[in-house]
Amino acid sequence: MCGIVGYIGNKEAYPIIIKGLKRLEYRGYDSAGVALLSNDSLNVYKKQGKVANLEAYSGDLDTSGTSGIGHTRWATHGAPNDTNAHPHYSESESIAVIHNGIIENYDAIRKQLLSKGYTFRSDTDTEVLCYLIEDIQKNAGTKLGESVRLALQQVVGAYALVVISKKEPNKLIAARKSSPLVVGIGDEGDFYLASDATPIVEYTRQVVYLDDEEIAVIKRGEELKIYGIDDIQKTPYVQELELHLEALEKGGYDHFMLKEIHEQPRSIEDCFRGRLNAEKGRVSLGGIREYEQKLINANRVIMIACGTSWHACLVGEYLFEDLARINVEVEYASEFRYRNPIIGENDIVIAVSQSGETADTLAALELAKSRGATILGICNVVGSSISRITDAGSYTHAGPEIGVASTKAFTAQVTVLTLMALSLANQKGTLSSTKFRGMLSELEAIPAKVKKVLESNQQIEYISGEYQGASNALYLGRGSSFPVALEGALKLKEISYIHAEGYPAAEMKHGPIALIDEEMPVFVVATKGMSYEKVVSNIQEVKARKGKIIAIVTEGDEQVREIADHVIEIPETDEHLVPLLATIPFQLLSYRIAVMRGCNVDQPRNLAKSVTVE
Ligand code: G6P
Repeated sequence: MCGIVGYIGNKEAYPIIIKGLKRLEYRGYDSAGVALLSNDSLNVYKKQGKVANLEAYSGDLDTSGTSGIGHTRWATHGAPNDTNAHPHYSESESIAVIHNGIIENYDAIRKQLLSKGYTFRSDTDTEVLCYLIEDIQKNAGTKLGESVRLALQQVVGAYALVVISKKEPNKLIAARKSSPLVVGIGDEGDFYLASDATPIVEYTRQVVYLDDEEIAVIKRGEELKIYGIDDIQKTPYVQELELHLEALEKGGYDHFMLKEIHEQPRSIEDCFRGRLNAEKGRVSLGGIREYEQKLINANRVIMIACGTSWHACLVGEYLFEDLARINVEVEYASEFRYRNPIIGENDIVIAVSQSGETADTLAALELAKSRGATILGICNVVGSSISRITDAGSYTHAGPEIGVASTKAFTAQVTVLTLMALSLANQKGTLSSTKFRGMLSELEAIPAKVKKVLESNQQIEYISGEYQGASNALYLGRGSSFPVALEGALKLKEISYIHAEGYPAAEMKHGPIALIDEEMPVFVVATKGMSYEKVVSNIQEVKARKGKIIAIVTEGDEQVREIADHVIEIPETDEHLVPLLATIPFQLLSYRIAVMRGCNVDQPRNLAKSVTVE
């Protein structure tokens, strides 16, 4: 959460920073601000709300400077107002800082500085850090980089930060611990800094991902220097970006979320490209091939994640258990890490994360690693922290996901987990060769089937119109459609602010049924398969209480059509692959309902896409 951008070079910094902030707005949009160095003065402009607010407000500022920093905030310490917006000045206003993360011991540092007579302007932890840097500089007479390093030695917590000072105008100092930071190396002696590579890609493809406790000293026109917090100099590892600019644009869609929903036929295909060949009966995930035997023989396989990625893990659990007969436990990363989990050398922890930066998932992995477990990752963002600390892993290759509510990343995660389960099943011999080959062909056919589901858009628009005024909704499913129900409910909550709950269909009787009346829409996955008849009975129970049923059914279904208020058909597929199709109408329904309710679909209130705080 929070997006940070910096630039130093020969170009005007302001437009680069504003454009970068807009690309990073998915990380938080409570406030935005810039600090620009022009003609020896360091000017901070900041405003509550989105980057567009800042632009409108800072229309007449001096933008001639060629270095500056910018921030888009997801509030942790202090209300989301102008004062608490970043950048923060030091006391003398000669230094400014932007920060993503949390300074956990900020109160102790604050008290120490208060006792020295400092007074603070904001309620933020970041301002305390900025004052500390200046205090060190004043007392020790150190240069900016060294002052930042000494300040960070006192800090407990997480940070990605960039510091600018008018006393050393040709320099930016950047540092990271647990929050991401990328340095882009331009070809004119200029440098770009950002929380991820999206603000950088249109200027350069040469990037360095900072590692934990690394400090970058960035001087205009000079080589990038990197030091550890222990002051030992390191050689920067320069990587080539594979990201493409068009992936960051809306491409004619009204919202990124809609674009991303419609990208799914392609993103699922990209995910299995080169990994799946139904004709030859082959499936292989290069990244984890070496770990397959270990997975088969593991004492425990634990999948950890947060949010939508956690739902993907739940689907993964069904797939691993049913197809490969491998026992899997699924845990919320935040619960796992604080439970003193019993975990050791023969255990495997698989983290699933779109961003690869989620603080709880990262910390849970580190804990598992410290106890000797093998750690694997399934991430979307290439070069992300999780992808770098894991022993091995597989990328989902869904391309940048910008809408805060996850859509294509979810189906790509489920695709990777399906490929893994199939590959393991093949190794273990738990599937007959006919069944195995049949499933590979079915998986290969999924992108075309997703395309077909996307054609139900018009019908979905009609259904959305009927239920846009609802205040509550229930989502039901059984087996691997239970996580689909959870994900459907989460999507509706996230972007339309309608209260929604996902339940295993059979559990409805143990509580939620009390809520059902003629006002309550109940969304049910009722596709053909093992529990079809049972789900039909659950639908009857809802109808008996006058609830409204919107059912996702297999093409040609007649039985549910007769009793449901609305049905949305999906093409027939292997039962294990239903989540990849059934989830699509739920995404579209949430999207349409949110648009009808006038909600900000891509940037729902209070949320952020990359949750780098616990
Ligand atoms: C946030 C996002 C969700 C996402 C979750 C986990 O809550 O809004 O869309 O599912 O974080 O993020 P990750 O990047 O680890 O998948």
